[in-house]
Amino acid sequence: MGKLFIALASGLLVGTVWLLVCSTRVCIEKIITKLLVLLHPVKDSQNVSIPGPNWKSYDGQLLEKFLDGKARAQEWQHCYGPTYRIWSGTTPEIVITKPEDIRTFHSDSVSHNKARSSNAGWMFHQLLGECMGLINGARWTALRNEFAPTYTHSAVHEKISIISNQARDYVNNLDPQQRPSFSLRTADAVSRFPFFCTATSIYGPLSDHEKEALWAIAQQSLAIMGKYVLSGGIYRSGRLSRWVAPAAVRELNTFQTAWEEFNLEMYRTRREKGTVPIVELWRHMEEGLVTKDEALHTLSEIIFANLDVATGTLSWLVIFLALDENVQKQVREELSGGRAEDLCTSKNSLLAHCFLETLRLRPFTAFSIPESSPSNKVLGGFHVPANTSVVVSALCVNYNKEFWGKDSEEFRPSRFQSVKPLDLRYNLFSFGFGTRKCLGQHFGEVMMKLFVIYLLERYELSLTPAARADLNKVGRDNWVPIPEAEVVFTERKV
Ligand code: HEM
Ligand SMILES: *[C@@H]1O[C@H](CO)[C@@H](O)[C@H](O)[C@H]1NC(C)=O
Ligand SMILES: *[C@@H]1O[C@H](CO)[C@@H](O)[C@H](O)[C@H]1NC(C)=O
Repeated sequence: MGKLFIALASGLLVGTVWLLVCSTRVCIEKIITKLLVLLHPVKDSQNVSIPGPNWKSYDGQLLEKFLDGKARAQEWQHCYGPTYRIWSGTTPEIVITKPEDIRTFHSDSVSHNKARSSNAGWMFHQLLGECMGLINGARWTALRNEFAPTYTHSAVHEKISIISNQARDYVNNLDPQQRPSFSLRTADAVSRFPFFCTATSIYGPLSDHEKEALWAIAQQSLAIMGKYVLSGGIYRSGRLSRWVAPAAVRELNTFQTAWEEFNLEMYRTRREKGTVPIVELWRHMEEGLVTKDEALHTLSEIIFANLDVATGTLSWLVIFLALDENVQKQVREELSGGRAEDLCTSKNSLLAHCFLETLRLRPFTAFSIPESSPSNKVLGGFHVPANTSVVVSALCVNYNKEFWGKDSEEFRPSRFQSVKPLDLRYNLFSFGFGTRKCLGQHFGEVMMKLFVIYLLERYELSLTPAARADLNKVGRDNWVPIPEAEVVFTERKV
Protein backbone atom coordinates (compact mmCIF):
# COMPACT_ATOMS: atom_id res chain seq x y z
CA MET A 1 0.00 0.00 0.00
CA GLY A 2 2.79 2.40 1.04
CA LYS A 3 4.78 1.56 -2.07
CA LEU A 4 1.79 2.19 -4.28
CA PHE A 5 1.25 5.52 -2.61
CA ILE A 6 4.88 6.56 -3.10
CA ALA A 7 4.73 5.47 -6.74
CA LEU A 8 1.54 7.43 -7.32
CA ALA A 9 2.81 10.49 -5.49
CA SER A 10 6.11 10.56 -7.33
CA GLY A 11 4.30 9.99 -10.61
CA LEU A 12 2.11 12.95 -9.84
CA LEU A 13 5.10 15.07 -8.90
CA VAL A 14 7.01 14.23 -12.08
CA GLY A 15 3.86 14.88 -14.09
CA THR A 16 3.30 18.28 -12.52
CA VAL A 17 6.93 19.36 -12.98
CA TRP A 18 6.79 18.17 -16.60
CA LEU A 19 3.58 20.08 -17.21
CA LEU A 20 5.01 23.16 -15.58
CA VAL A 21 8.19 23.03 -17.68
CA CYS A 22 6.17 22.50 -20.85
CA SER A 23 3.68 25.20 -20.15
CA THR A 24 6.41 27.66 -19.18
CA ARG A 25 8.12 26.85 -22.44
CA VAL A 26 4.94 27.34 -24.44
CA CYS A 27 4.25 30.43 -22.41
CA ILE A 28 7.71 31.86 -23.07
CA GLU A 29 7.37 31.07 -26.75
CA LYS A 30 4.06 32.94 -26.82
CA ILE A 31 5.55 35.98 -25.09
CA ILE A 32 8.53 36.04 -27.46
CA THR A 33 6.18 35.72 -30.43
CA LYS A 34 4.17 38.71 -29.15
CA LEU A 35 7.38 40.74 -28.85
CA LEU A 36 8.57 39.73 -32.31
CA VAL A 37 5.20 40.61 -33.82
CA LEU A 38 5.38 44.05 -32.18
CA LEU A 39 8.90 44.52 -33.50
CA HIS A 40 7.97 43.50 -37.03
CA PRO A 41 4.44 44.74 -37.73
CA VAL A 42 2.95 43.35 -40.94
CA LYS A 43 -0.74 44.23 -41.23
CA ASP A 44 -3.48 44.47 -43.79
CA SER A 45 -5.58 47.57 -44.48
CA GLN A 46 -7.89 46.66 -41.59
CA ASN A 47 -4.89 46.56 -39.25
CA VAL A 48 -5.16 42.78 -38.92
CA SER A 49 -1.76 41.24 -38.26
CA ILE A 50 -0.44 38.62 -40.66
CA PRO A 51 -1.11 35.10 -39.30
CA GLY A 52 1.50 32.42 -38.74
CA PRO A 53 2.88 29.89 -36.28
CA ASN A 54 4.34 31.00 -32.96
CA TRP A 55 8.07 31.38 -32.69
CA LYS A 56 9.58 28.16 -31.37
CA SER A 57 12.78 27.78 -29.35
CA TYR A 58 15.50 28.05 -30.50
CA ASP A 59 15.34 28.21 -34.24
CA GLY A 60 11.80 29.30 -35.03
CA GLN A 61 10.68 27.36 -38.09
CA LEU A 62 14.14 27.39 -39.67
CA LEU A 63 14.80 23.64 -39.50
CA GLU A 64 11.27 22.41 -40.09
CA LYS A 65 11.27 24.40 -43.30
CA PHE A 66 13.87 22.03 -44.70
CA LEU A 67 13.55 18.82 -42.72
CA ASP A 68 9.78 18.63 -42.77
CA GLY A 69 9.13 21.03 -45.61
CA LYS A 70 6.48 19.06 -47.43
CA ALA A 71 4.26 18.45 -44.39
CA ARG A 72 4.74 21.97 -43.04
CA ALA A 73 3.97 23.66 -46.37
CA GLN A 74 0.61 21.91 -46.47
CA GLU A 75 -0.15 22.30 -42.78
CA TRP A 76 0.72 26.01 -42.63
CA GLN A 77 -1.25 26.88 -45.72
CA HIS A 78 -4.20 25.00 -44.30
CA CYS A 79 -3.97 26.78 -40.92
CA TYR A 80 -2.95 30.28 -41.99
CA GLY A 81 -4.08 30.70 -45.58
CA PRO A 82 -2.17 31.84 -48.65
CA THR A 83 0.03 34.48 -46.99
CA TYR A 84 1.58 33.98 -43.58
CA ARG A 85 4.72 34.51 -41.55
CA ILE A 86 7.26 32.11 -40.09
CA TRP A 87 10.41 32.76 -38.07
CA SER A 88 13.94 31.83 -39.07
CA GLY A 89 15.62 32.12 -35.72
CA THR A 90 14.03 35.43 -34.74
CA THR A 91 14.00 36.81 -38.29
CA PRO A 92 10.55 37.06 -39.85
CA GLU A 93 9.95 35.48 -43.23
CA ILE A 94 6.78 36.14 -45.21
CA VAL A 95 5.58 33.06 -47.07
CA ILE A 96 3.68 33.62 -50.31
CA THR A 97 1.82 30.99 -52.34
CA LYS A 98 -0.26 32.88 -54.91
CA PRO A 99 1.05 33.42 -58.47
CA GLU A 100 -0.07 37.07 -58.41
CA ASP A 101 1.93 37.69 -55.23
CA ILE A 102 4.96 35.98 -56.74
CA ARG A 103 4.66 38.31 -59.73
CA THR A 104 4.23 41.41 -57.54
CA PHE A 105 7.15 40.45 -55.37
CA HIS A 106 9.48 39.75 -58.29
CA SER A 107 8.54 42.85 -60.33
CA ASP A 108 11.75 44.54 -59.10
CA SER A 109 13.78 41.37 -58.85
CA VAL A 110 16.96 43.03 -60.25
CA SER A 111 17.33 44.97 -57.03
CA HIS A 112 16.41 42.13 -54.67
CA ASN A 113 18.74 40.97 -51.96
CA LYS A 114 19.32 37.55 -50.50
CA ALA A 115 19.27 37.36 -46.70
CA ARG A 116 22.66 37.08 -45.06
CA SER A 117 23.54 33.36 -44.77
CA SER A 118 19.93 32.71 -45.72
CA ASN A 119 18.95 33.56 -42.11
CA ALA A 120 20.54 30.24 -41.09
CA GLY A 121 23.36 31.44 -38.84
CA TRP A 122 27.06 31.04 -38.27
CA MET A 123 27.84 27.44 -39.18
CA PHE A 124 25.96 27.77 -42.45
CA HIS A 125 27.79 30.99 -43.14
CA GLN A 126 31.13 29.21 -42.76
CA LEU A 127 30.15 26.73 -45.48
CA LEU A 128 28.21 28.87 -47.95
CA GLY A 129 27.72 32.40 -46.61
CA GLU A 130 29.76 34.09 -49.33
CA CYS A 131 28.56 31.96 -52.25
CA MET A 132 27.03 33.43 -55.39
CA GLY A 133 23.52 32.38 -54.42
CA LEU A 134 23.66 34.31 -51.14
CA ILE A 135 25.52 37.55 -51.77
CA ASN A 136 24.27 40.77 -53.32
CA GLY A 137 25.06 43.89 -55.29
CA ALA A 138 28.39 44.44 -57.04
CA ARG A 139 29.95 41.39 -55.37
CA TRP A 140 27.20 39.18 -56.78
CA THR A 141 27.55 40.69 -60.27
CA ALA A 142 31.30 40.07 -60.29
CA LEU A 143 30.89 36.50 -59.13
CA ARG A 144 28.02 35.72 -61.49
CA ASN A 145 30.05 37.12 -64.42
CA GLU A 146 32.93 34.94 -63.35
CA PHE A 147 30.97 31.69 -63.68
CA ALA A 148 28.26 32.59 -66.20
CA PRO A 149 30.25 31.97 -69.41
CA THR A 150 30.68 28.29 -68.45
CA TYR A 151 26.96 27.67 -68.11
CA THR A 152 25.21 29.74 -70.78
CA HIS A 153 22.91 27.94 -73.17
CA SER A 154 25.47 28.03 -75.96
CA ALA A 155 28.41 27.04 -73.76
CA VAL A 156 26.49 24.00 -72.54
CA HIS A 157 25.56 23.05 -76.10
CA GLU A 158 29.19 23.16 -77.13
CA LYS A 159 29.98 20.76 -74.32
CA ILE A 160 27.20 18.29 -75.03
CA SER A 161 29.48 15.58 -76.37
CA ILE A 162 31.62 15.73 -73.22
CA ILE A 163 28.54 15.41 -71.00
CA SER A 164 27.12 12.74 -73.25
CA ASN A 165 30.27 10.60 -73.04
CA GLN A 166 30.28 10.87 -69.28
CA ALA A 167 26.63 9.85 -69.10
CA ARG A 168 27.17 6.85 -71.38
CA ASP A 169 30.24 5.66 -69.48
CA TYR A 170 28.46 6.07 -66.17
CA VAL A 171 25.44 4.05 -67.25
CA ASN A 172 27.65 1.35 -68.76
CA ASN A 173 29.47 0.98 -65.46
CA LEU A 174 26.41 1.25 -63.27
CA ASP A 175 26.80 -2.37 -62.31
CA PRO A 176 30.46 -3.36 -62.15
CA GLN A 177 29.42 -7.06 -62.24
CA GLN A 178 27.29 -6.46 -65.33
CA ARG A 179 24.39 -8.56 -63.98
CA PRO A 180 21.27 -8.87 -66.12
CA SER A 181 19.16 -7.52 -63.28
CA PHE A 182 19.91 -5.77 -60.01
CA SER A 183 18.34 -3.30 -57.63
CA LEU A 184 19.90 -0.27 -56.00
CA ARG A 185 18.79 2.62 -53.82
CA THR A 186 18.16 5.12 -56.59
CA ALA A 187 20.09 7.93 -54.95
CA ASP A 188 23.16 5.69 -54.51
CA ALA A 189 22.89 4.56 -58.11
CA VAL A 190 22.79 8.05 -59.62
CA SER A 191 24.54 10.53 -57.31
CA ARG A 192 28.09 10.26 -58.56
CA PHE A 193 27.05 11.15 -62.09
CA PRO A 194 25.84 14.75 -61.63
CA PHE A 195 28.58 15.24 -59.04
CA PHE A 196 31.52 14.40 -61.28
CA CYS A 197 29.89 15.81 -64.37
CA THR A 198 29.51 19.18 -62.61
CA ALA A 199 33.02 18.98 -61.15
CA THR A 200 34.41 18.29 -64.63
CA SER A 201 32.75 21.46 -65.89
CA ILE A 202 34.94 23.39 -63.44
CA TYR A 203 38.20 21.40 -63.35
CA GLY A 204 38.26 19.59 -66.69
CA PRO A 205 38.80 15.79 -66.67
CA LEU A 206 39.64 14.34 -63.25
CA SER A 207 41.90 11.37 -62.55
CA ASP A 208 40.58 8.53 -60.39
CA HIS A 209 42.75 9.75 -57.57
CA GLU A 210 41.40 13.30 -57.85
CA LYS A 211 37.85 11.98 -57.99
CA GLU A 212 38.28 10.03 -54.77
CA ALA A 213 39.82 13.06 -53.05
CA LEU A 214 36.95 15.29 -54.16
CA TRP A 215 34.32 12.75 -53.13
CA ALA A 216 35.90 12.47 -49.68
CA ILE A 217 35.84 16.25 -49.21
CA ALA A 218 32.20 16.32 -50.34
CA GLN A 219 31.37 13.81 -47.60
CA GLN A 220 33.05 16.10 -45.03
CA SER A 221 30.99 19.03 -46.26
CA LEU A 222 27.73 17.07 -46.27
CA ALA A 223 28.45 15.72 -42.80
CA ILE A 224 28.90 19.24 -41.40
CA MET A 225 25.67 20.29 -43.07
CA GLY A 226 23.78 17.27 -41.73
CA LYS A 227 25.20 17.19 -38.20
CA TYR A 228 25.52 20.87 -37.34
CA VAL A 229 23.71 23.21 -39.71
CA LEU A 230 20.58 21.07 -39.66
CA SER A 231 20.58 20.92 -35.86
CA GLY A 232 20.51 24.69 -35.55
CA GLY A 233 20.74 25.79 -31.90
CA ILE A 234 24.22 26.72 -30.76
CA TYR A 235 25.67 26.22 -34.24
CA ARG A 236 23.92 29.39 -35.33
CA SER A 237 26.40 31.32 -33.17
CA GLY A 238 30.15 31.30 -33.75
CA ARG A 239 31.01 32.28 -30.19
CA LEU A 240 28.81 29.57 -28.71
CA SER A 241 30.10 26.94 -31.13
CA ARG A 242 33.73 27.69 -30.31
CA TRP A 243 32.97 27.55 -26.65
CA VAL A 244 30.59 24.59 -26.43
CA ALA A 245 31.41 22.54 -29.50
CA PRO A 246 35.13 22.85 -30.28
CA ALA A 247 35.09 19.45 -32.00
CA ALA A 248 32.55 20.71 -34.53
CA VAL A 249 34.67 23.80 -35.16
CA ARG A 250 37.75 21.59 -35.66
CA GLU A 251 35.79 19.47 -38.13
CA LEU A 252 34.83 22.62 -39.98
CA ASN A 253 38.45 23.80 -40.10
CA THR A 254 39.62 20.43 -41.40
CA PHE A 255 37.11 20.65 -44.21
CA GLN A 256 37.98 24.24 -45.05
CA THR A 257 41.71 23.47 -45.23
CA ALA A 258 41.15 20.37 -47.36
CA TRP A 259 38.87 22.29 -49.72
CA GLU A 260 41.29 25.14 -50.23
CA GLU A 261 44.21 22.75 -50.79
CA PHE A 262 42.23 20.72 -53.28
CA ASN A 263 41.40 23.78 -55.36
CA LEU A 264 44.93 25.13 -55.18
CA GLU A 265 46.16 21.74 -56.42
CA MET A 266 43.61 21.81 -59.26
CA TYR A 267 44.85 25.25 -60.24
CA ARG A 268 48.51 24.19 -60.14
CA THR A 269 47.96 21.05 -62.19
CA ARG A 270 45.75 22.75 -64.78
CA ARG A 271 47.22 26.19 -65.30
CA GLU A 272 49.60 25.02 -68.06
CA LYS A 273 46.86 23.25 -69.97
CA GLY A 274 44.87 26.29 -71.03
CA THR A 275 41.43 27.37 -70.05
CA VAL A 276 39.41 25.45 -67.52
CA PRO A 277 37.24 27.62 -65.26
CA ILE A 278 39.23 26.87 -62.08
CA VAL A 279 42.37 28.46 -63.57
CA GLU A 280 40.63 31.72 -64.50
CA LEU A 281 38.84 31.80 -61.16
CA TRP A 282 42.02 31.33 -59.16
CA ARG A 283 43.83 34.00 -61.18
CA HIS A 284 40.99 36.45 -60.62
CA MET A 285 41.05 35.63 -56.94
CA GLU A 286 44.76 36.38 -56.78
CA GLU A 287 44.13 39.64 -58.63
CA GLY A 288 41.49 40.52 -56.04
CA LEU A 289 38.46 40.50 -58.38
CA VAL A 290 36.74 37.97 -56.14
CA THR A 291 37.63 37.05 -52.56
CA LYS A 292 38.89 33.64 -51.50
CA ASP A 293 35.71 32.91 -49.56
CA GLU A 294 33.54 33.92 -52.49
CA ALA A 295 35.47 31.59 -54.76
CA LEU A 296 35.58 28.64 -52.35
CA HIS A 297 31.98 29.01 -51.19
CA THR A 298 30.68 29.25 -54.74
CA LEU A 299 32.64 26.14 -55.68
CA SER A 300 31.05 24.51 -52.62
CA GLU A 301 27.65 25.68 -53.75
CA ILE A 302 28.07 24.37 -57.29
CA ILE A 303 29.71 21.08 -56.40
CA PHE A 304 28.62 20.14 -52.84
CA ALA A 305 25.30 21.89 -52.14
CA ASN A 306 24.20 20.89 -55.61
CA LEU A 307 25.11 17.27 -55.02
CA ASP A 308 21.97 16.97 -52.91
CA VAL A 309 19.88 19.03 -55.33
CA ALA A 310 20.99 17.06 -58.37
CA THR A 311 20.85 13.69 -56.62
CA GLY A 312 17.32 14.42 -55.42
CA THR A 313 16.05 15.59 -58.80
CA LEU A 314 17.69 12.84 -60.83
CA SER A 315 16.57 10.16 -58.37
CA TRP A 316 12.96 11.30 -58.54
CA LEU A 317 13.08 11.42 -62.31
CA VAL A 318 14.31 7.83 -62.43
CA ILE A 319 11.75 6.76 -59.82
CA PHE A 320 8.81 8.36 -61.65
CA LEU A 321 9.87 6.64 -64.88
CA ALA A 322 10.20 3.33 -63.02
CA LEU A 323 6.74 3.87 -61.56
CA ASP A 324 5.05 4.62 -64.87
CA GLU A 325 5.83 1.87 -67.38
CA ASN A 326 3.71 3.54 -70.01
CA VAL A 327 5.56 6.83 -69.96
CA GLN A 328 8.82 4.90 -69.84
CA LYS A 329 7.85 3.06 -72.99
CA GLN A 330 6.81 6.25 -74.77
CA VAL A 331 10.05 8.01 -73.89
CA ARG A 332 11.95 5.03 -75.23
CA GLU A 333 9.97 5.20 -78.48
CA GLU A 334 10.79 8.87 -78.71
CA LEU A 335 14.46 8.00 -78.34
CA SER A 336 14.58 5.24 -80.90
CA GLY A 337 16.46 6.31 -83.97
CA GLY A 338 17.41 9.79 -82.78
CA ARG A 339 20.79 10.97 -81.56
CA ALA A 340 21.02 11.43 -77.81
CA GLU A 341 22.67 14.82 -78.30
CA ASP A 342 19.74 16.13 -80.38
CA LEU A 343 17.06 14.71 -78.14
CA CYS A 344 18.45 16.21 -74.99
CA THR A 345 18.14 19.74 -76.35
CA SER A 346 14.47 19.54 -77.33
CA LYS A 347 12.20 21.43 -74.94
CA ASN A 348 9.05 19.84 -76.33
CA SER A 349 9.86 16.16 -76.03
CA LEU A 350 8.13 13.85 -73.60
CA LEU A 351 11.52 13.49 -71.92
CA ALA A 352 11.68 17.27 -71.41
CA HIS A 353 8.19 17.15 -69.94
CA CYS A 354 9.18 14.30 -67.62
CA PHE A 355 12.01 16.48 -66.37
CA LEU A 356 9.70 19.46 -65.76
CA GLU A 357 7.08 17.24 -64.15
CA THR A 358 9.75 15.93 -61.76
CA LEU A 359 10.82 19.45 -60.82
CA ARG A 360 7.16 20.33 -60.31
CA LEU A 361 6.35 17.40 -58.06
CA ARG A 362 9.63 17.29 -56.18
CA PRO A 363 11.11 20.79 -55.96
CA PHE A 364 14.38 20.41 -54.08
CA THR A 365 13.08 22.70 -51.39
CA ALA A 366 9.53 23.17 -50.17
CA PHE A 367 10.32 26.85 -49.52
CA SER A 368 12.51 29.04 -51.70
CA ILE A 369 15.65 30.77 -50.42
CA PRO A 370 14.74 33.97 -48.50
CA GLU A 371 15.00 37.14 -50.58
CA SER A 372 13.92 40.73 -49.98
CA SER A 373 12.86 43.70 -52.06
CA PRO A 374 14.13 47.22 -51.24
CA SER A 375 10.55 48.52 -51.74
CA ASN A 376 7.43 48.11 -49.64
CA LYS A 377 5.13 45.48 -51.09
CA VAL A 378 1.51 44.52 -50.67
CA LEU A 379 1.39 40.73 -50.67
CA GLY A 380 -1.85 38.88 -50.07
CA GLY A 381 -3.26 42.21 -48.84
CA PHE A 382 -0.58 42.62 -46.18
CA HIS A 383 1.79 45.59 -46.12
CA VAL A 384 5.23 44.03 -46.15
CA PRO A 385 7.94 46.59 -45.33
CA ALA A 386 11.00 46.97 -47.55
CA ASN A 387 13.88 44.57 -46.83
CA THR A 388 11.66 41.90 -45.24
CA SER A 389 12.61 38.32 -46.18
CA VAL A 390 10.06 36.67 -48.43
CA VAL A 391 9.97 33.00 -49.38
CA VAL A 392 7.82 31.25 -51.95
CA SER A 393 6.07 28.08 -50.88
CA ALA A 394 7.32 26.13 -53.87
CA LEU A 395 5.20 23.13 -53.05
CA CYS A 396 1.94 25.07 -52.86
CA VAL A 397 2.67 26.73 -56.18
CA ASN A 398 3.53 23.46 -57.86
CA TYR A 399 0.55 21.57 -56.39
CA ASN A 400 -1.94 24.39 -56.90
CA LYS A 401 -5.12 22.65 -58.09
CA GLU A 402 -6.53 25.86 -59.56
CA PHE A 403 -3.77 25.91 -62.11
CA TRP A 404 -2.67 22.28 -62.35
CA GLY A 405 -6.04 20.62 -62.00
CA LYS A 406 -7.41 17.93 -59.74
CA ASP A 407 -4.59 15.49 -60.45
CA SER A 408 -1.96 18.07 -59.51
CA GLU A 409 -0.18 15.62 -57.22
CA GLU A 410 0.19 12.95 -59.88
CA PHE A 411 3.00 12.34 -62.32
CA ARG A 412 1.48 13.16 -65.72
CA PRO A 413 4.19 14.70 -67.93
CA SER A 414 1.83 15.11 -70.89
CA ARG A 415 0.11 17.95 -69.00
CA PHE A 416 2.89 20.23 -70.22
CA GLN A 417 1.70 19.83 -73.82
CA SER A 418 -1.24 22.09 -73.06
CA VAL A 419 0.42 24.68 -70.85
CA LYS A 420 1.70 27.93 -72.36
CA PRO A 421 5.32 28.63 -71.39
CA LEU A 422 4.33 32.15 -70.34
CA ASP A 423 1.79 30.75 -67.86
CA LEU A 424 4.51 28.66 -66.28
CA ARG A 425 6.37 31.75 -65.21
CA TYR A 426 4.66 32.16 -61.83
CA ASN A 427 2.87 28.81 -61.60
CA LEU A 428 5.91 26.59 -61.50
CA PHE A 429 8.84 26.72 -59.14
CA SER A 430 11.72 24.99 -60.91
CA PHE A 431 14.91 27.02 -61.21
CA GLY A 432 13.80 30.03 -59.20
CA PHE A 433 12.30 33.36 -60.24
CA GLY A 434 13.75 36.56 -61.62
CA THR A 435 17.34 37.72 -61.67
CA ARG A 436 18.63 35.13 -59.22
CA LYS A 437 17.53 32.20 -61.33
CA CYS A 438 19.70 29.12 -61.30
CA LEU A 439 23.08 29.52 -62.95
CA GLY A 440 23.21 25.86 -63.93
CA GLN A 441 19.74 25.35 -65.35
CA HIS A 442 20.77 24.49 -68.93
CA PHE A 443 23.67 22.41 -67.74
CA GLY A 444 21.55 20.56 -65.17
CA GLU A 445 18.79 19.86 -67.65
CA VAL A 446 21.08 18.53 -70.37
CA MET A 447 23.05 16.45 -67.89
CA MET A 448 19.96 14.77 -66.47
CA LYS A 449 18.26 14.17 -69.79
CA LEU A 450 21.38 12.56 -71.26
CA PHE A 451 21.64 10.30 -68.24
CA VAL A 452 18.05 9.15 -68.65
CA ILE A 453 18.49 8.61 -72.39
CA TYR A 454 21.35 6.17 -71.85
CA LEU A 455 19.68 4.60 -68.87
CA LEU A 456 16.47 3.83 -70.75
CA GLU A 457 18.39 2.56 -73.75
CA ARG A 458 20.06 -0.06 -71.64
CA TYR A 459 17.63 -0.89 -68.82
CA GLU A 460 13.98 -1.49 -68.09
CA LEU A 461 13.22 0.32 -64.84
CA SER A 462 10.80 -0.88 -62.20
CA LEU A 463 10.35 -0.42 -58.47
CA THR A 464 10.88 -2.96 -55.72
CA PRO A 465 7.62 -3.80 -53.88
CA ALA A 466 8.96 -2.04 -50.79
CA ALA A 467 9.62 1.10 -52.80
CA ARG A 468 6.14 1.00 -54.33
CA ALA A 469 4.62 0.69 -50.86
CA ASP A 470 6.53 3.63 -49.42
CA LEU A 471 7.42 5.75 -52.40
CA ASN A 472 7.67 9.06 -50.62
CA LYS A 473 10.03 7.96 -47.88
CA VAL A 474 12.95 10.40 -47.70
CA GLY A 475 16.14 10.58 -45.64
CA ARG A 476 16.53 13.30 -43.02
CA ASP A 477 20.30 13.79 -43.09
CA ASN A 478 20.31 16.12 -46.06
CA TRP A 479 18.90 19.60 -46.55
CA VAL A 480 17.14 18.31 -49.67
CA PRO A 481 14.68 15.41 -49.42
CA ILE A 482 16.55 12.46 -50.93
CA PRO A 483 14.28 9.47 -51.72
CA GLU A 484 14.98 6.09 -50.16
CA ALA A 485 13.26 4.06 -52.90
CA GLU A 486 15.10 1.22 -54.65
CA VAL A 487 14.84 0.78 -58.39
CA VAL A 488 15.24 -2.53 -60.24
CA PHE A 489 17.41 -2.24 -63.34
CA THR A 490 16.82 -5.04 -65.86
CA GLU A 491 18.99 -5.25 -68.94
CA ARG A 492 16.91 -4.87 -72.11
CA LYS A 493 17.15 -7.45 -74.84
CA VAL A 494 17.68 -5.63 -78.10
C1 HEM B 1 18.11 20.09 -61.58
C2 HEM B 1 19.08 20.68 -60.97
C3 HEM B 1 19.00 22.04 -60.37
C4 HEM B 1 17.94 22.69 -59.80
C5 HEM B 1 16.52 22.15 -59.60
C6 HEM B 1 18.41 23.98 -59.37
C7 HEM B 1 17.63 24.95 -58.77
C8 HEM B 1 18.06 26.21 -58.41
C9 HEM B 1 17.21 27.24 -57.86
C10 HEM B 1 15.72 27.10 -57.58
C11 HEM B 1 17.98 28.33 -57.64
C12 HEM B 1 17.51 29.68 -57.11
C13 HEM B 1 17.55 29.63 -55.65
C14 HEM B 1 17.09 30.93 -55.08
O1 HEM B 1 15.90 31.21 -55.07
O2 HEM B 1 17.95 31.65 -54.61
C15 HEM B 1 19.32 27.99 -58.03
C16 HEM B 1 20.40 28.86 -57.96
C17 HEM B 1 21.68 28.51 -58.32
N1 HEM B 1 22.07 27.33 -58.92
FE1 HEM B 1 20.89 25.76 -59.40
N2 HEM B 1 19.74 24.10 -59.68
C18 HEM B 1 20.13 22.95 -60.30
C19 HEM B 1 21.38 22.66 -60.80
C20 HEM B 1 22.44 23.50 -60.73
C21 HEM B 1 23.74 23.20 -61.28
C22 HEM B 1 24.12 21.93 -62.05
C23 HEM B 1 24.54 24.24 -60.99
C24 HEM B 1 25.99 24.36 -61.38
C25 HEM B 1 26.44 25.18 -62.19
C26 HEM B 1 23.75 25.22 -60.23
C27 HEM B 1 24.21 26.42 -59.73
C28 HEM B 1 23.42 27.38 -59.12
C29 HEM B 1 23.93 28.66 -58.64
C30 HEM B 1 25.38 29.12 -58.65
C31 HEM B 1 22.83 29.38 -58.14
C32 HEM B 1 22.82 30.79 -57.54
C33 HEM B 1 22.51 31.76 -58.64
C34 HEM B 1 22.52 33.21 -58.21
O3 HEM B 1 22.09 33.57 -57.11
O4 HEM B 1 22.97 34.03 -59.03
N3 HEM B 1 22.48 24.73 -60.12
N4 HEM B 1 19.34 26.70 -58.51
C1 LIG C 1 -4.78 51.32 -38.26
O1 LIG C 1 -3.84 51.84 -37.30
C2 LIG C 1 -3.34 53.12 -37.62
C3 LIG C 1 -2.27 53.52 -36.61
O2 LIG C 1 -2.22 52.67 -35.53
C4 LIG C 1 -4.48 54.14 -37.69
O3 LIG C 1 -3.99 55.41 -38.06
C5 LIG C 1 -5.50 53.67 -38.70
O4 LIG C 1 -6.62 54.54 -38.72
C6 LIG C 1 -5.97 52.24 -38.41
N1 LIG C 1 -6.81 51.80 -39.51
C7 LIG C 1 -7.92 51.05 -39.32
C8 LIG C 1 -8.68 50.68 -40.56
O5 LIG C 1 -8.29 50.70 -38.25
C1 LIG D 1 16.93 48.37 -47.25
O1 LIG D 1 18.23 47.89 -47.40
C2 LIG D 1 19.04 48.69 -48.24
C3 LIG D 1 20.35 47.96 -48.46
O2 LIG D 1 20.78 47.27 -47.34
C4 LIG D 1 19.21 50.07 -47.58
O3 LIG D 1 20.01 50.90 -48.39
C5 LIG D 1 17.84 50.68 -47.40
O4 LIG D 1 17.94 51.92 -46.73
C6 LIG D 1 16.92 49.75 -46.63
N1 LIG D 1 15.58 50.29 -46.67
C7 LIG D 1 14.81 50.39 -45.59
C8 LIG D 1 13.47 51.01 -45.78
O5 LIG D 1 15.17 49.98 -44.49
